[in-house]
Amino acid sequence: MNMKILITGGNGQLAFDCNEVLKKKYEVLSHSHKEMDILDFGQTERIINIFKPDTILNCAAYTKVDACETEKDLAWKVNVIGPKNLAEISEKLGCKIIHISTDYVFSGKKPTPEYYVEDDSPDPLTYYGNTKLEGELAIQKATNSYAIIRTAWLYGIRSNNFLKTILKLCSKNPPKGVKVVNDQFGSITWTFKLALQIKKIIETDGQGTYHATSEGYSTWFEAAEYFLKKFAIPYKVIPCSTKEYPTQARRPANSILENKRLKQEGINLMNHWENDLEQFFSKFRERLIRDATEANR
Ligand SMILES: NC(=O)c1ccc[n+]([C@@H]2O[C@H](COP(=O)([O-])OP(=O)(O)OC[C@H]3O[C@@H](n4cnc5c(N)ncnc54)[C@H](OP(=O)(O)O)[C@@H]3O)[C@@H](O)[C@H]2O)c1
Repeated sequence: MNMKILITGGNGQLAFDCNEVLKKKYEVLSHSHKEMDILDFGQTERIINIFKPDTILNCAAYTKVDACETEKDLAWKVNVIGPKNLAEISEKLGCKIIHISTDYVFSGKKPTPEYYVEDDSPDPLTYYGNTKLEGELAIQKATNSYAIIRTAWLYGIRSNNFLKTILKLCSKNPPKGVKVVNDQFGSITWTFKLALQIKKIIETDGQGTYHATSEGYSTWFEAAEYFLKKFAIPYKVIPCSTKEYPTQARRPANSILENKRLKQEGINLMNHWENDLEQFFSKFRERLIRDATEANR
């Protein structure tokens, strides 16, 4: 069967890799924010009704965690009303919705290295986490045909992310080094590998809530230090505490997720974060370093 998949938020980092992976096998329509605004119910419904997807993959979101604390109205609309619209449209059409959610639905109060499984009670610390949780609930209310995939700490070749920021900051002032938080724990996850996992969930008709992050865990500092050392990039990172690096939104100290359901169903494709980071960097090293250097000119 030639499955049809519609991807929302097409210019985002995860959507980009999902499109790359899924279009090799399926008929994919990936729409950017400009091409399809998930807050515009009429436009979204029209596009979906014309394409008639078997699956809607919602990668659209308001992902600026700190800005969510002040841009509450917009964050709520994009992360709650948008998914609700898509779930209602998919229910009417009889297709399935796959929605991406986050580790930030959890408070992080479990002691490290205890991890969170799918049926642990969410208790978000941030407004972003709150809107993402409400988005999950809105989908569950609107349809039974859904998969919610909670992931974490994404990086990829598209858009800005933690790795690119570290490279950019380091290349600005190499001798001084850059302070990186060393008391928040999670699993840094490559969007390309997550896209392969999402494909697997689509193909096995996964239903309900899944956790999907890389295996293993680290702090932000450990992840940054690992890739700088591994690839002999002569930049320095300096560990610091969350207190020394205050942000508008309070991040969970421990947001390690366990891919329990993927493992139970025998479909866990996620690898250790160190292996994926190595692969990612081997593939894109020149481009990443060039982009970081050029950004500082
Ligand atoms: N990034 C992470 O570390 C992380 C961690 C855990 C979970 N997640 C989740 O993973 C998913 C993908 O994240 P990502 O990092 O790929 O995000 P991203 O790069 O910020 O992409 C999100 C996309 O959504 C689009 N968008 C915003 N409002 C929209 C609207 N009203 N209609 C249609 N599109 C809209 C944005 O377009 P504009 O920029 O043009 O507005 C952007 O292209 C999200 O659900 C996020 O919550 C991300």
